[in-house]
Amino acid sequence: MMPLVVSGFFYAASDSQRLAGKVAVITGGASGIGKATATEFIKNGAKVIIADIQDDLGHSVAAELGPDAAYTRCDVADEAQVAAAVGLAVKRHGHLDVFHNNAGIAGRLPGRRSPPPKISSKSTARDAQFQSINTLSNAELTIIGSGGPYDAENNAARSQRSSGLLHQFSTAANSQRLAGKVAVITGAASGIGKASAKEFIGNGAKVILADVQDDLGRAVAAELGPGATYTRCDVTDEAQVAAAVDLAVARHGALDVFYSNAGVLGSIAPAPLASLDLAEFDRVMAVNARAAVAAAKHAARAMVPRRSGCVLFTGSVSGVVGGTGPTSYGVSKAAVLGVVRAVAGELARHGVRANAVSPCGVATPLSMVQVLEAYPGMSFEELKNAMAASMEQMEAGPLIDPEDVARAAVFLASDEAKYINGHNLVVDGGFTVGKLLKIPKE
Ligand SMILES: NC(=O)c1ccc[n+]([C@@H]2O[C@H](COP(=O)([O-])OP(=O)(O)OC[C@H]3O[C@@H](n4cnc5c(N)ncnc54)[C@H](O)[C@@H]3O)[C@@H](O)[C@H]2O)c1
Repeated sequence: MMPLVVSGFFYAASDSQRLAGKVAVITGGASGIGKATATEFIKNGAKVIIADIQDDLGHSVAAELGPDAAYTRCDVADEAQVAAAVGLAVKRHGHLDVFHNNAGIAGRLPGRRSPPPKISSKSTARDAQFQSINTLSNAELTIIGSGGPYDAENNAARSQRSSGLLHQFSTAANSQRLAGKVAVITGAASGIGKASAKEFIGNGAKVILADVQDDLGRAVAAELGPGATYTRCDVTDEAQVAAAVDLAVARHGALDVFYSNAGVLGSIAPAPLASLDLAEFDRVMAVNARAAVAAAKHAARAMVPRRSGCVLFTGSVSGVVGGTGPTSYGVSKAAVLGVVRAVAGELARHGVRANAVSPCGVATPLSMVQVLEAYPGMSFEELKNAMAASMEQMEAGPLIDPEDVARAAVFLASDEAKYINGHNLVVDGGFTVGKLLKIPKE
């Protein structure tokens, strides 16, 4: 499909069948965001049950969207109707993959003078509905997501995930979502940076791989083909960051994406805070945090005059949750998120976006090599399993792959994310949102 021009820039129409074979229920699907979501889902290959209370509108939207859409009346304030919408999806299509809990009402506008709500009064029925829609339907989601009558199904799904079946799902990572874009990716000789360079090129971008591992970087560029160019770039040296940007512009005419990904973990030797080595702290900050500022600065130099571009950073769950990495590393990654917040507003006024991707434990040299050095008796597999076990406490499943992070980066870099700015996209299977209490079950 031809790219469309919207507000002066290109975006690839999102019809890449990324939801092929999936079944979704979308509440509030007759209008607004719900309708737009149903449209995108169907374009991407899903079957959709549009669940709403606007029957005429819902039926006509379903008719408009064709045979993959069906309308059902579903007042989300009524548990039985939510259950029925789920039941309909399963009955009609055999399973349910996505429940998009989207229906909502605004309630009264603040500042409007109105009497306090009386739930029993006929005139305040909407207040009661407002309250119940925004609370009860969330409770429904937990029934679908974990526990309750769906436990057996969940257990089967969990065991599938742990056995690696997750990776058999199609992610259609070759949909040309970055067609025509030019990117610099730092730390691209290895791990997440290498996986990102591959995904970017698979999606139509040209990539400058910037790293300090010259032999590896050149070999990766050769492996990735003519869309890839390696350049030496020590991100602690501002002149080298500037040169990588200039190389992209000289070679390809412009820079659309600067992905500041290079990073170091620093010493993992357990040491009390009182003996923190500040020289080591400075070294980690120079690679992980100061270089992020240099990236934003020189990306802005190339992007602001064109009023277009995207700066991406690799953060970490260690920048979100304390104690999940060495102290210096955690501080440096929190600073990366600070850079996003500090620059996103200024850049937005010039048509440039800034976002971060924050992964949890990925088995790459950064996370494995030093740890293995510190625990010489441990095998690579044992360490990987130990990291995976840490993720299991949120039932996130096995360790994520570098490609899972890379695909999040592709999305943020693409024009599909044109309104996403100043965001930290955690790629952690839910690790940072909560912890299970260790209360014995018996
Ligand atoms: N692996 C994980 O568990 C994990 C989790 C969260 C965040 N991250 C972050 O992901 C990013 C990529 O790390 P990875 O896991 O792919 O590790 P990796 O070791 O495979 O890759 C890091 C790359 O950065 C490069 N690099 C280091 N110092 C550099 C410098 N001064 N200039 C230029 N390049 C330099 C290395 O040569 C290497 O190629 C890092 O920012 C890291 O902090 C990793």
